[in-house]
Amino acid sequence: MSLLELNDVKVHFPVRKGVLFNRTVGHVYAVDGISLNVEAGQTYGLVGESGCGKTTLGRAVLRLVDVTDGEIVLDGTDLAKLPDEEMRRFRRRLQMVFQDPLGSLNPRQNIESILSEGMAAHGIGANQEERRERIKEILTRVGLPANALSRYPHEFSGGQRQRIGIARALVLEPDVIICDEPVSALDVSIQAQVINLLEELQEQLGLTYLVIAHDLAVVRHISDVIGVMYLGSLVEEAPSDALYAAPKHPYTKALMSAVPVPDPEVEDRRERILLRGDLPSPANPPTGCRFHTRCPWKQETRCATERPELVDLGDGHKVACHFAAGIEAGTVKRTGAAAIVPAGKTDTVPAARTSPEASAETAKAETAKAEAVVQDEPVKAESEVSAEAEVRDEPVKPAPGEAEASEKPEASDESEAPGK
Ligand SMILES: Nc1ncnc2c1ncn2[C@@H]1O[C@H](COP(=O)(O)OP(=O)(O)OP(=O)(O)O)[C@@H](O)[C@H]1O
Ligand code: SF4
Ligand SMILES: [Mg+2]
Repeated sequence: MSLLELNDVKVHFPVRKGVLFNRTVGHVYAVDGISLNVEAGQTYGLVGESGCGKTTLGRAVLRLVDVTDGEIVLDGTDLAKLPDEEMRRFRRRLQMVFQDPLGSLNPRQNIESILSEGMAAHGIGANQEERRERIKEILTRVGLPANALSRYPHEFSGGQRQRIGIARALVLEPDVIICDEPVSALDVSIQAQVINLLEELQEQLGLTYLVIAHDLAVVRHISDVIGVMYLGSLVEEAPSDALYAAPKHPYTKALMSAVPVPDPEVEDRRERILLRGDLPSPANPPTGCRFHTRCPWKQETRCATERPELVDLGDGHKVACHFAAGIEAGTVKRTGAAAIVPAGKTDTVPAARTSPEASAETAKAETAKAEAVVQDEPVKAESEVSAEAEVRDEPVKPAPGEAEASEKPEASDESEAPGK
């Protein structure tokens, strides 16, 4: 049994209209049937573009939004069915680290007060003295000085504030930490430090993470298993290395093609799949395969009429595509619906589309351009994708001292440390 199991979880937000009667006129299908398992001591990375339902799923696990249907089983208990009172006790076991470290910390509370609040509420530590000692220990673990206790959130840099966010989760000794875009608000250099810290903490404390991100590079470094989400559902799930070596779902292939390769020779040979149009509205999702309106391999009529299930194609590599095997074998050919351009030439295609008219014009221009580029070009061999995946840049551990230098607040910690 996995530590955390989601079975067919759905979160449908009602769309209401009218002042007096407040009628429900439809639903936003933000999460629409997600099943996944998070193993103890491992990291599950969840990726997908903005609006696909990642945060809603994270919030559903914590029951911060109403779960429409499905099971959320933590260590054998289905949280989706727990009465509110019992859920409150379970909440300590599931903690969240948020995207915006400043926005999630009360500016009027000092760090000791922020961190001890939850501990007191859940009965951790016999008194404030004990809690303070525990907090000091955790602050050291996340790389913050002990004198941080008496300071306020605005006195810290962005990276340090995220360390405080991580410490706030850790002091409650949770079973699972859900990190929602934990580094996307941080500078690139600091991102690697925070990701490395999460990894170190996992090794030291045996933590279990569900890491949510829109950036594949972020989840690759830290995840054991990666799930790719599109419009409320998982379209692919695989062990991290397998997914990067050979993505099988057309949407994952498009996402991966957007990740730059540092080797200029490989970068020149690489092609990029530019999906047309925005994510369709989750209030009115496409019929059949939800990706069919943007899929370069879309086939008549099955793709638009029959919703594919997530199927294990072997070794835990699961894909929700009727034609995944044929696409991999090269027997199912691309049919359009995307611009395929050399990676170095991506800037020739306008990225932003502001209106449906502009979008249609852009789509036409892209079709012409794409046709010119991909005429008779064979589908890329998986081995080639795999070779490229090998050389992709990964976050680098900072040299000792480097992290400190780049993340220190303006005032020196040493000079102010009381009792140090
Ligand atoms: N409380 C709500 N009521 C109605 N719709 C909502 C609510 N919360 C989220 N949504 C909608 O659900 C969809 C999924 O939103 P969500 O925030 O989960 O996406 P996301 O993948 O986290 O996006 P991002 O990467 O931008 O954070 C969006 O269309 C959003 O507008
Ligand atoms: S089922 Fe059809 S539309 Fe969906 S990903 Fe596969 S080929 Fe594309
Ligand atoms: Mg989000």
